[in-house]
Amino acid sequence: MSVGIFDSGLGGLTVWDAVTRRLPDLAVTYYGDNANAPYGTRTSEDVHRLTRRAVEAMWDGGCDLVVLACNTASAAALRRMQEDGVPEGKRVLGVFVPLIEAMTERNWGDNSPPREVAVNQVALFATPATVASRAFQRELAFRAIGVDVEAQACGGVVDAIEDGDMILAEALVRSHVDALKRKMPTPNAAILGCTHYPLVQDAFQAALGADVKVFSQADIVAESLADYLSRRPAMAAGGTSRMLTTGDPEKVSARATQFLRRGITFQAA
Ligand code: DGL
Repeated sequence: MSVGIFDSGLGGLTVWDAVTRRLPDLAVTYYGDNANAPYGTRTSEDVHRLTRRAVEAMWDGGCDLVVLACNTASAAALRRMQEDGVPEGKRVLGVFVPLIEAMTERNWGDNSPPREVAVNQVALFATPATVASRAFQRELAFRAIGVDVEAQACGGVVDAIEDGDMILAEALVRSHVDALKRKMPTPNAAILGCTHYPLVQDAFQAALGADVKVFSQADIVAESLADYLSRRPAMAAGGTSRMLTTGDPEKVSARATQFLRRGITFQAA
């Protein structure tokens, strides 16, 4: 069996890249629902339906553990899927908790009461659906007190990245950072709460300024997955690696190769 990494499209490749570097011997199935991307402008009901369908296909395809490497899917579907119950021996995890644990300097599974942390003015950049869900603020409130979060829905950035138009994506980043700064002039930390955003991380950092600490998920999620699997080695045993897409494999392979600057070949899901 292989470990599944799910995203609405190409953004989860940032997590896939970090995971395959951190765990080079792990068999990983990447599943991009490119035919239905972007998720970030859909209703939460729709995101839940699409995410559930893809995760069930991954479970049926032999992945015992699926990581939702998509904040929008994690925000709209994860809690509901876990509450509805997952099949025997199967697991689904999201990307918010590892990020918040890193930001609040907690170890995995530290369930102690919320406490004050080093950062207190946090800018959250995410898709409209993730911002509307308030899932980030809810998870943060379990772990930290005294943190102001100002969220900026970054309309258009995912579409520009999926289209390969990085000049437009960077211009949109600058205007979203300006909009955020009008609401919170001096954030001391920023969360890139969408898997696509590491592809324009330099633009975020430049617009925010060097003294703002930017938390980006890929390495944090890879480290947290390595820790999780070290405690459940059976979930990491055997299997073969595959790249699956619901979109056009040729087009998606070309875009993925352009993003990661190494040859990536997708096949039809
Ligand atoms: N990559 C997804 C995320 O992390 C969102 C992209 C989309 O809108 O489909 O939120």
